Amino acid sequence: MHVCRSIAAIRDAVAGFRATGHSVGLVTTMGALHAGHMSLIAAAKRDHGRVVATIFVNPTQFGDPKDLETYPRTEAADLAMLEAAGCDAVLIPRADEIYPEADETIVETRDLAVRMHGALRPGHFRGVATVVTKLFNITRPDAAYFGEKDYQQLQVIRRMAHDLHMGIDIHGVPTLREADGLAMSSRNVRLTPEDRAAAVCLNRALDRAERMAMERASPAQIEAAIRATIADEPRATLTGLDIVSPGSLAFLRHSPDAPLSEPAAIMISARFGEVLLIDQREITP
Ligand code: PAF
Repeated sequence: MHVCRSIAAIRDAVAGFRATGHSVGLVTTMGALHAGHMSLIAAAKRDHGRVVATIFVNPTQFGDPKDLETYPRTEAADLAMLEAAGCDAVLIPRADEIYPEADETIVETRDLAVRMHGALRPGHFRGVATVVTKLFNITRPDAAYFGEKDYQQLQVIRRMAHDLHMGIDIHGVPTLREADGLAMSSRNVRLTPEDRAAAVCLNRALDRAERMAMERASPAQIEAAIRATIADEPRATLTGLDIVSPGSLAFLRHSPDAPLSEPAAIMISARFGEVLLIDQREITP
């Protein structure tokens, strides 16, 4: 595996892959890798001759400097996992190369970036769209793979790639879960043992919502049940709950009091101590 610490080095590695006729799949990460990331690498390997990963804790997507500072950094373990998974090259750039002095260009989706999680974390999706554009331009992949857990991020990136004619296929990969149902996330390692046990209420709420949708409950009833499930867990503080159209994240077309009769995406975020976790489920009644 090529370990590249500069833009020039990863461009050389990718040029080598192209010269031997291989297509390239990209997996962008902020490190602290887990099995969920490895499922993205596996999906990219299934579709492409060569797989490139990036590890970059992107400062522009963190509103809270403490969150950026405490974000887990586990480079040696990350490299071992990527190597074992058969990744062909990894870029670990310096922040000042990604954001050169006096850098002034940003990439922003308008509506998608400011709603839901975007309203809770102003500027977050602008930071994501900007860095992902830079990483796409640096590595020029045929396709890129993102986890469905970060559902709004996936929609922002899909939209951006489409609107800016990037010519890169964007793939969503299903969320991997721990045995008790907690969605895998790099943030899970920051949970105390008590909060880790409590965090399973997110998946419990989504399971309950899905069952209710199959039994013709309305969005209003489903929302009330999710709120009640999270409220039953004293260590959890619900910070966001949206039931929207998949993909566009627009409001559902039908009345919140009529039985759910169209596909919906449920997006939840909740705080456990200092750690903000998100989860989501797409439901087709
Ligand atoms: O999902 C992530 O890990 C990050 O938001 C991403 C896409 C690597 C951009 O920094």
